[in-house]
Amino acid sequence: MSEIRGWTRRNFIGLTGAATGASLLPLAAADRTFAAAMRTIRPRSEAQRSPGNDSDWSDVLGAFDLGGRITMNSANLAPASGPARAAFTSLAASIDSDPSFQNRAQFADARRVTRERLAAFLKADPEEIVLTRNTTEGNNFIVQGLDLGPGDEVLLSAHNHPSNMASWKVRADRAGFKVIEVPLATPAPSPEALLDGFRAAATPRTRVVSYSHVTNTAGCRYPAREISEWAREQNILTLADGAQTCGALDVDLHDLGCDFYTASGHKWPCSPREVGVLYIRNDRQSEVWPSVVGLGPSEDGAPDRFEELGQRDDAALAAFGHAVLFLQEIGSAAIEARIAALTSLLKEELSKLPGVTIYAPLAADFSGGVVTFHVDGVDARRAHEWLYRERQIVSAPSGVEAGGIRFSPHIYTSLAECERAVEAMREIISGAVQI
Ligand SMILES: Cc1ncc(COP(=O)(O)O)c(C=O)c1O
Repeated sequence: MSEIRGWTRRNFIGLTGAATGASLLPLAAADRTFAAAMRTIRPRSEAQRSPGNDSDWSDVLGAFDLGGRITMNSANLAPASGPARAAFTSLAASIDSDPSFQNRAQFADARRVTRERLAAFLKADPEEIVLTRNTTEGNNFIVQGLDLGPGDEVLLSAHNHPSNMASWKVRADRAGFKVIEVPLATPAPSPEALLDGFRAAATPRTRVVSYSHVTNTAGCRYPAREISEWAREQNILTLADGAQTCGALDVDLHDLGCDFYTASGHKWPCSPREVGVLYIRNDRQSEVWPSVVGLGPSEDGAPDRFEELGQRDDAALAAFGHAVLFLQEIGSAAIEARIAALTSLLKEELSKLPGVTIYAPLAADFSGGVVTFHVDGVDARRAHEWLYRERQIVSAPSGVEAGGIRFSPHIYTSLAECERAVEAMREIISGAVQI
């Protein structure tokens, strides 16, 4: 019964347009659409979700429309949640039917609301939040925006995403500083070993450490808080790439202490596409130059200095806020625990199959939502194609180490589906099917 009582007046009042009572304005209409879609979600106070029980998650599972596919590719691209998509569709329709300045006037306010929601979600201040297009852009704002030159050194985790590596290398070639790749064993031995790797590679010339909070390769979680503490003592800046943690883990940026953090809305936050977030810690804002300048220099804080990127998709930026609201209704800690239950099942069951090496660390607090594994004698790319074609399982091939398959399940994946994915791998490994 509580399934239909879910999203009612209590929540509705907190929404942007609804609070103004201006029912004809685009945001009010989108908020109404969103609130209607949220009615099937059990309110957090009543939900009592056990991470290991699919039926406790049936309302959340039902909020995604995945055509029956077992979708486990959140590390690359996640579907927008139904309520966020409904809000986006309503907002986009409003702009398309009336692109006037008058109709779009409300959207500046919508951006502020999205920033505020992201700040609350990531435990930061709204002035520290910049709405970008994706992680790649956020990383580039830092890579291009810091004053670095000859004599300076930047430490990169060797498992950074290729876009992160490439942007540092191009900038280093141009500005004359040095980048040093710090290796990472797979499977990684311990969080301490990751910090020790940076410690050992640092010199008095080191200015920045750039790493993925959770790697997209082997799914290893870097000890962000410890890295920040050490780096701050050495006067080294930290860029934590959060593409694999924002929306997947219960992230508290002020507690993690990194100087910069980047993420994409279209991965774990389940937002409409091409929206992202860049966090610039308050006391570091004066150290980053804007590398794309739209309406001219502004002294009004990070959002103004970095968000002037010409005409943007106002509907997606506003609906990013709805996507965050959807996750907040479930709760970040509950989401992290659910993802840990899904990935633990995968790691435990896959590791029982012959020839399987799990690349992701087994401990939940040393990993995230990314499960990468290698199977001796199985062509990972062919297996990935077969899984999609024959079993409707959405995965990714991975080039890490000897090559592997990556499953990255999320709140729209059930434990039963994870079991079916393990079963499909059993079929492949036993040779019962030709891939
Ligand atoms: C760690 C990491 N950083 C950056 C990116 C790039 O994300 P986007 O294409 O959304 O900018 C990815 C994508 O998978 C990633 O995993």
